[in-house]
Amino acid sequence: MLSLLLLSLLAVQSLAMEVHVPELPVVALQGQDTVLNCTFSGTAPFAPADVSVFWQLTDTKRSVHSYWGGRDQLVDQAEGFAGRTALFPGRLGGGDASLLLRRVGVADEGSYTCFVRVQNYSRASLLLQVAAAYSKPAVTLPPDSNLRPGDEMDLTCVAYGGYPEAMVLWQDGGGHNLTDNVTHSLVANEDGLFSIHSVLSIVLVPNSTYTCRLTNPVLGDQGHMSVTIAGQTMAFPPVALWVTVGLAVCLLALLIALAAVCRRKIKESCEEARREAEESKELEEEESKTAMMLLKS
Ligand SMILES: *[C@@H]1O[C@H](CO)[C@@H](O)[C@H](O)[C@H]1NC(C)=O
Ligand SMILES: *[C@@H]1O[C@H](CO)[C@@H](O)[C@H](O)[C@H]1NC(C)=O
Ligand SMILES: *[C@@H]1O[C@H](CO)[C@@H](O)[C@H](O)[C@H]1NC(C)=O
Ligand SMILES: *[C@@H]1O[C@H](CO)[C@@H](O)[C@H](O)[C@H]1NC(C)=O
Ligand SMILES: *[C@@H]1O[C@H](CO)[C@@H](O)[C@H](O)[C@H]1NC(C)=O
Repeated sequence: MLSLLLLSLLAVQSLAMEVHVPELPVVALQGQDTVLNCTFSGTAPFAPADVSVFWQLTDTKRSVHSYWGGRDQLVDQAEGFAGRTALFPGRLGGGDASLLLRRVGVADEGSYTCFVRVQNYSRASLLLQVAAAYSKPAVTLPPDSNLRPGDEMDLTCVAYGGYPEAMVLWQDGGGHNLTDNVTHSLVANEDGLFSIHSVLSIVLVPNSTYTCRLTNPVLGDQGHMSVTIAGQTMAFPPVALWVTVGLAVCLLALLIALAAVCRRKIKESCEEARREAEESKELEEEESKTAMMLLKS
């Protein structure tokens, strides 16, 4: 009875082969090495020569690393992985088909399938998540330092070389989130790492503090930077000065033009008066001539 039970247990073990991989995404830092864990169960120990392991990209089925007949088989390996992969041959007999992946890059991110065959076969897939830390965020003010309270200005927050896309949060001195008048832009370099650029447009208030916070969705807090714009003495604003000068010049020009027009108008009306006077004299002369003629006849 007991031996029968043992026998059936053994049979179940040899039939039902299981492959285990991490359920949560494996996070690897860009540029560093990582291990994609994969273990298999069955009737251990296995003779490595009897074990076949195929690591593939889940979506495309392209080969990442293959092993059978007691050695690596890399003829059909996808080129991006050349020289960057290795199994741990000493551990295969113990049911460990984990893959070492060297110098992880953003392009390596994705789903990997670990396929193992001994007497029977099975497979399991895991997700590789690549991450890179951003540079500490840096806030810059516009180069024009002659800004006055009430002026509009842009604060720029930049951070470089991170992955994946980070979240930028602007806060005022009271810790309130500022979401209006914010524009983000994101640029990827040839390695797939992002530079993030966030601009906050503000209306300048003396003694105001603004903080730029950067959060990497995988690595968490990536630092913050605050700027305080000090209160400024209300000196005569240069803008107002130029407006005043401009207005004065305009007014002067207007006055001169007006004077010129007036002079011409006065001259014109004088001439008109003179002409009218002459005309009326002529008319008078004619009338007197007529009168004389009347008298003669
Ligand atoms: C392989 O395992 C499956 C169940 O996982 C079983 O149905 C099948 O018979 C097994 N094949 C061999 C050759 O053991
Ligand atoms: C992979 O396996 C090693 C050794 O068994 C373990 O220390 C490590 O935490 C595992 N990694 C993951 C992501 O499960
Ligand atoms: C600010 O935004 C962050 C992220 O969206 C959120 O976690 C936090 O609770 C917000 N804080 C306030 C005071 O609204
Ligand atoms: C956003 O900008 C507009 C126009 O510049 C301004 O009227 C508004 O007050 C700003 N909003 C905030 C929250 O600063
Ligand atoms: C701005 O800060 C300075 C120095 O901290 C302080 O002397 C001044 O009273 C503050 N002005 C306002 C309007 O809060």
